[in-house]
This record gives sequence, C-alpha cells and structure tokens, in this order.
Amino acid sequence: MAGIPAASIEGAGLEAEIRSVGMALAEGEASASGPLLQRLDERAMRHAAQDRELRAALFRLVDVAPACRNFEDLGEHLAGLVGQLDERPPSLDVAMRTSHTKAGRIALGAATAAGVRHMAHRFIAGDSPTDARAELLGLWRSGIASTIDLLGEASVAGAEADRYRDRCAEAIAVLAEGAQGWPRQGVLESDSQGAIPRANLSVKVSALTPMLRPEAPERAIEDASARLRPLLSQASRSGAHLHIDMEDVDSLESTMRLVLELLSSPEFERSPSAGLVLQAYLCESPALLDQILDWARASRRSPPLVVRLVKGAYWDSEVVEARQQGWSVPVFTDKAECDRNFEALTRRLLDARPAVRVAVGSHNLRSVAHAIAYNRFSGGDDRDLEFQVLRGLGDDLAAALAAAGLRARLYSPVGDLVAGMAYLVRRLLENTSNESFLGARLEGEEIEALLAAP
Ligand code: 2OP
Repeated sequence: MAGIPAASIEGAGLEAEIRSVGMALAEGEASASGPLLQRLDERAMRHAAQDRELRAALFRLVDVAPACRNFEDLGEHLAGLVGQLDERPPSLDVAMRTSHTKAGRIALGAATAAGVRHMAHRFIAGDSPTDARAELLGLWRSGIASTIDLLGEASVAGAEADRYRDRCAEAIAVLAEGAQGWPRQGVLESDSQGAIPRANLSVKVSALTPMLRPEAPERAIEDASARLRPLLSQASRSGAHLHIDMEDVDSLESTMRLVLELLSSPEFERSPSAGLVLQAYLCESPALLDQILDWARASRRSPPLVVRLVKGAYWDSEVVEARQQGWSVPVFTDKAECDRNFEALTRRLLDARPAVRVAVGSHNLRSVAHAIAYNRFSGGDDRDLEFQVLRGLGDDLAAALAAAGLRARLYSPVGDLVAGMAYLVRRLLENTSNESFLGARLEGEEIEALLAAP
C-alpha cells in the first residue's frame, strides 16, 4: 500500500458507485457481442499461460512465422519448437507425427500460417490507413472513435525513420480527408473545453529516429524533432490529433522532453491537439505526472494536452533487462500496487482538469469503473473523460462504454505482419500473463471480485 493513497474522501459511497458502474459495463460488454469468452485463440492463449515452455515456444513461433520462406519451412520450425517441449498437449503430439513427411510439414506450415494470420487480424485493422477507412467509419457510426497506429518501431536508420514519417503524413491526410464526410457524433467530437478532432494518429518516437539512447537524449530529441515538427504542422492544418506513444523506459526522457519542448514552441501554442502517455506501472510515474502537470499549468495550452493513462505494455522486457543488468526494476512488480497507483493517478489527472484532457487506457473493468465513478463523484462531466482500448481486446468494452454514452476510442494498428511483430508479441505477453484481467475473466472469476478495490 506504501505511498499510494486509496480513494478515501468518498469511501464506501465511491466503492458502491464503482460496483454499480462496473456491473452495468460488464452487462454491456456481454450484450455487445460476447465473443470475448468464446474465442478459440483466447483459449489457446490461456492454455499457453499455464505452461512456461509452451508460452516461450508460441512466442518463438509467432516471431519466426513471417520470415519463413514457405509452408514447409514453417512446418519444420513448428515441429522443432514442439519437439523441445517436455510435455505437450495431445493436439501437438498429432502435429509432431504429421511433421515426419514433406506433405505433412507443408500442411502443418499452412495451418500455422493461417493461425498466425488469424490472430494478427484480430489486432490489426488493415494493411494501410486507406484499407482501414471503412472499418473506422463503421466504428464511428456505432459511436466509437479511433486512433490509428502505424505498425513499425525501433528504426535503425535515418531512411527508415523518413519512411515512417512519410507514412504518418499519408495517414494524417487520409484520415482527415475521410473523416470530413462522417456523420455528426456529439459525444465523440466535443467536451466542455471545445472540439475534439475526428482524425487521430498515434506515433512512436522509436520509429521517428534511430538515435534513441538513454545516455544521449539531446541527439534523439533533435533528430526526432526534425521529423515530428512537420507532422505537427500538418496535423494543425488538417485539424487532426497527434498522440505520442510512450515505449520502454530507455526512451522515456527523450519522449517526454521531445513532446513538451515542441508543444512549447510558439508555432504549436494553439494547435494541433496533441497528447502523450503516462505509464502507471512505472514506480516514478507520480513524479512524471508532477512534471506533466507543472508544464500543462505553466503553458496554459489550449487545446489542453491529452494525457493517456495506461498501465504500460513493456513490463516483461523492463523486468528482464533490469534484472540482467543488475539495475533496480523500474516497474511495480506487485499487480495490486500497480492498480492502486493507476487509480491514484486517475484521480490526480481528473482533478487537474482543465489543464489537461484525460484519456484512461485500460481493459480492466475496475480501473474503468473507478474513473467513471470518481469523475461523477467529484462533479465532473462524463464528456470530460475519454476511454481508450486496444482493437482485438477492448472491442466489447468500447461498445459497452459507447452504449452508456461515454467516449471510447479504439487503438487500431495498421500495417503488415512483419512490422507488427513486436506489437503482437506484446499483446500475447499481456494475454498469457497469469495476472491478466481479461484472463481472469476468461477463467470465470466473478465480476464482483474483479471490481473489488485493489
Ligand atoms: C503498444 O504499442 C499499445 O502503444 C501500445 O504496445
């Protein structure tokens, strides 16, 4: 519990409201479509979660699949990985027997490729923004906004970063032009501070510069600025929102400084709408929020900076790297502590309005219900709180939020499978984690228990 205040002033009243909001959202999710609890790939992921070796084999397979030359090659890889498992489920024993002939390996490879593609399609909205446009319009019509994420990260050369910048420029153009014809959706396009752009792009700094090194933030900031600046100008001209994602802790300082420095320049004082991300799994996140709020209050920027509060998607790699290097682990390793921190940061962010706009990014019903309940308890307007979820994981929650008249935005990656591999692996890691909220629901944990204070 150390250092993280629980929701105190409202006490039992707030908890009762969280339970009632959470139960209503759970019902909304179930009636949205209900596929969450039945998906086959979900079951396969839960199965993998029970077994460390199987989990590792699954990751290696997904990682290697796009690089395989042909189905036989892929079939051979699968057999090789399965062969290393001490204990395997019966279905994989069948796969091993099949792999003894060339025809069997080809069939196995084809089935594996179809499986990986199927899983990828769950998370990826299309090959390009143009491809995804019909889906985005469909979402908008059903009361759900979106943000596009162009798959690709960790550029290793300037030319690659240039290509990413060009893809971003194209995405802003396609989104802004397409969104002009969308029907009006009051909840999605305004709050008490004014208009909210329809076109919304999320950008990764590691894709915008090959120079991200924690020991030399200046060079990274300069190099990334040269590519981000024209994108901000374009977003400003086309009325689009640019959101800068947060990645691993090595890029944290550069990313924060890059965004806050650029948005401080007179050119971007009034537009575009822009945002950054605060990761609640970081032990230093309360101090990072101090910095963000100090900046927001001093700059008095309008439109206000949008802060997307998330738990964070790099937990496994942060823990492994810190342990390998003998550093102190920068993230909470106790889930309840992380959840309490998320709630404390939610309350601070909501209390800081109108200096910032708040977007809560979570699939955890408790965290979402807490934000809604606290906002209402403290006299806030539902419109002044946004929710963001990931395509393929939070679709039903987005539908339930939309049905409840709240603003939900679906984070929708576009691009090809190879560029999207790191993204997919992060989603698999989250889904096969024994502490996954969605996993706990899948295992049949009672909603009441899941809505209890962390
Ligand atoms: C990620 O790329 C959603 O930004 C988050 O994993």
